[in-house]
Amino acid sequence: MRNKHVVRGAVVGSWLAVAASVMWAPHLLPGSVTAAAIRDTSRDSLLVPESIYQGWKWWHVYCYRCHGEDAIGGINPAAPDLRWALSPSGANFPRDSFVNTALNGRAAKGMPSWKVLLDTSAIAELYLYVKARSDGWLKPGRPHRASDLQTKSQ
Ligand code: HEC
Repeated sequence: MRNKHVVRGAVVGSWLAVAASVMWAPHLLPGSVTAAAIRDTSRDSLLVPESIYQGWKWWHVYCYRCHGEDAIGGINPAAPDLRWALSPSGANFPRDSFVNTALNGRAAKGMPSWKVLLDTSAIAELYLYVKARSDGWLKPGRPHRASDLQTKSQ
């Protein structure tokens, strides 16, 4: 008898805890998420404009499997590290050559053509992403936009 009471008490207790956290969640979540995001920004410089954010997304759909996650290279030995390719102290690849190579590829060398899947504005976004990685201010990892940091009031 006593055991049954204890068990029932525990069940009611945990139900109350769940109910309380559900009631509180809408008030607590946006604030704490924003605080964490702002802390990350000041530490990691992952805050980017929309264009670079989109470039990061394209990159991690189409390019990372040969040129490396976060554009660090080192996956497919034939595919160069594009941070080096764009760097003034590396190949110093101009923007137009990047766009042309990405659109048309170099089939004989194992670089696919992307013009069926990507238009020039997507490739321009890819360029901006890789350039930010090459210049070094954009750290590895998932970047965020200013709009991602704002508290959602709804
Ligand atoms: C299947 C593997 C593969 C994928 C996926 C891939 N690439 Fe490449 N990429 C290569 C290879 C291999 C080369 C080197 C070609 C050569 O030796 O001329 C290359 C070269 C390049 C170059 C020229 C760099 C230089 O210094 O000559 C650019 C720019 C480039 N890729 C951009 C991209 C972009 C942007 C994407 C995603 C949309 C992408 N690549 C996806 C394999 C790939």
